[in-house]
Amino acid sequence: MTQGIETEEIRRRAASLGEWFHNIDLGGVRTAPNHFLGDYPAVKWRQFAHVIPPDLAGRSVLDIGCNGGFYSIEMKRRGAARVLGIDSDEDYLAQARFAAEVTGQDIEFRCLSVYDLGAIGERFDIVLFMGVLYHLRHPLLALDLIHEHVAKDLLVFQSMQRGAASVLPVREDYDFWEQEQFDDPGWPKLHFIERRYSHDETNWWVPNRACTEAMLRSAGFAIEAHPEQEVYLCRRVEAPPGAAAAYPVRGRTA
Ligand SMILES: C[S@@+](CC[C@H](N)C(=O)[O-])C[C@H]1O[C@@H](n2cnc3c(N)ncnc32)[C@H](O)[C@@H]1O
Repeated sequence: MTQGIETEEIRRRAASLGEWFHNIDLGGVRTAPNHFLGDYPAVKWRQFAHVIPPDLAGRSVLDIGCNGGFYSIEMKRRGAARVLGIDSDEDYLAQARFAAEVTGQDIEFRCLSVYDLGAIGERFDIVLFMGVLYHLRHPLLALDLIHEHVAKDLLVFQSMQRGAASVLPVREDYDFWEQEQFDDPGWPKLHFIERRYSHDETNWWVPNRACTEAMLRSAGFAIEAHPEQEVYLCRRVEAPPGAAAAYPVRGRTA
């Protein structure tokens, strides 16, 4: 469905919205046909779509870092009653609004940082937090804020991962003089990028698998499925003692 907009008009308007990260099929017009990851994020979506309820009727969805709106549109296509997409970049939001218009999906998009989630004042049945963690200078804070302010039930999470895929079972405690565990490849590690990685100055922290899983648990998200190397389906549970976001809520409305 293209809401009656001519193909040439779609092509012209999509091009006028700058470079797209999301390759979305808008009535035959591909928005990022030369994406370095291929047909992205459709290739990723195909690997984990089956773990998300096929019928989202009556459910609410928050898509954090929604970019060009690919996942927001897919959630709406599954019948979600309400989808809110947020991103800190107005250019991407303009793309998302256009993609929703062309595909005929009623989605709200708002310019908001993950750090300001407290301003939304609402919890969502499903929160998508895909491909954002490693772009943040304060990744654990973001997870804490999602838990504290917006997650009601499911969290769909994705992060780039680097380092070992092994996971060292961690003990409850270690003596001050025990140090060898830190050099085990399966110890949770968050790699700091001081300069650039993948030619992108917005990459700050890249976890290994053990760290990804430990951070999710530590923020109060129980891992229920791991359908794809980078993707986790989690359920919000009570956060462990001591885990809490220490970031002020900036007002109640965005
Ligand atoms: C790699 S893209 C991922 C897009 C999409 N979620 C996906 O998985 O395909 C990262 C997105 O996060 C957004 N972003 C970066 N920092 C953010 C922040 N502090 N708050 C909200 N969005 C942010 C970027 O603007 C960009 O659209």
